[in-house]
Amino acid sequence: MFRLSQYMRELLHPTPIKPARKPAAPVVIWNLIRRCNLTCKHCYTTSADIDFPGELTTQEIYTVMDDLKAFKVPVLILSGGEPLLHPDIFSISRRAKAMGFYVALSSNGTKISRDNIDEIAAINYQYIGVSLDGIKDTHDRFRRVKGSFDEALRGVHLCLDKDIKVGIRFTLTQDNAGDFPALLRLMDDNNIDKFYLSHLNYGGRGNKNRKDDAHFEMTRQAMDLMFETCYDWLKAGQDREFVTGNNDADAVYFLHWATRKFPDKASHIKARLEQWGGNASGVNVANIDNLGNVHPDTFWWHYDLGNVKKRPFSEIWTDTSDPLMAGLKQNPRPLQGRCATCHYQNICNGNTRVRAEQTTKNFWAEDPGCYLTCAEIEPAL
Ligand SMILES: C[S@@+](CC[C@H](N)C(=O)[O-])C[C@H]1O[C@@H](n2cnc3c(N)ncnc32)[C@H](O)[C@@H]1O
Ligand code: SF4
Repeated sequence: MFRLSQYMRELLHPTPIKPARKPAAPVVIWNLIRRCNLTCKHCYTTSADIDFPGELTTQEIYTVMDDLKAFKVPVLILSGGEPLLHPDIFSISRRAKAMGFYVALSSNGTKISRDNIDEIAAINYQYIGVSLDGIKDTHDRFRRVKGSFDEALRGVHLCLDKDIKVGIRFTLTQDNAGDFPALLRLMDDNNIDKFYLSHLNYGGRGNKNRKDDAHFEMTRQAMDLMFETCYDWLKAGQDREFVTGNNDADAVYFLHWATRKFPDKASHIKARLEQWGGNASGVNVANIDNLGNVHPDTFWWHYDLGNVKKRPFSEIWTDTSDPLMAGLKQNPRPLQGRCATCHYQNICNGNTRVRAEQTTKNFWAEDPGCYLTCAEIEPAL
């Protein structure tokens, strides 16, 4: 995850670089339930409104939670399917909060209602992300349920009314790239604090529909707009958060943007980005699916590292006998193709290995989603 606004702030108000702190354990994205009331075109969990047998029971979830705490996992992102369809979502959330985790909820927003908003507010989630994949019909087509945009936006408003920190999550594809400017306006009009732009990753229906991935030029235009918007708003005193996911090349593209605009700050930003270090799958990001299978990140559902019903997460995560985990944890990673020759490998860390593997069957091949030109991966600074 590339925290654009953090680096944008560094352009305007540089701060001294301190030694990097290595997190003790990864952020865990936890798909508690696979059932969902929507069937989005790009969904990596291939969710639907049906029961998926064999899911972790609430008691099993609590046992895993204790192990995660002992292992020093700092953050739980409760996801699905639609996590608000889990019958015990509030008990699970309360327990996680009481244990001192930073707890975020990843929701499609349609199940946030007048009936449950007080309970949601009382949980005191640190953050709720609601997916908006376009305006009105674009969103409804993408998420394949008519009226889902209005319901999701109602969910956002209910959160805003309760002063809950809520953000928009948008997955960019050919289907909805045209709505990106309008979504930024919606963010502004509604005073929403955070925007997360996710690039398409090739898992589940996202892999089946990968022909709809945004063309490189669309992605570049979207990133340019995001950079300019983030910068303009920050300068105007509106310190909103902009984050991107599933394309660590964004950081390199930003470095080129920053170098053109603020040549005197280029080396500072470069040093900051190198300290961040790019893709963190299998290292600082982990995934547990609804059945208890552990994956290097959420898009590796076709690749199991082990199951928490049989072995504690802490053991599975530290076991590097698995070749994918060994390579992901290696520094530098054993990258091939264009990624191996890229001058900015220590910023991007080889980007998204799932896309490489889904298109070539080779974990370490170049990421076909890298939209940087040949000139942009050569030394410039
Ligand atoms: C799987 S959903 C679960 C939470 C909730 N149902 C929702 O839609 O927000 C979590 C997030 O992953 C995003 N997502 C799903 N499939 C994706 C893919 N193939 N590539 C990138 N993001 C994806 C969704 O848009 C959503 O923002
Ligand atoms: S992306 Fe979210 S809302 Fe859409 S089908 Fe998947 S789990 Fe459901």
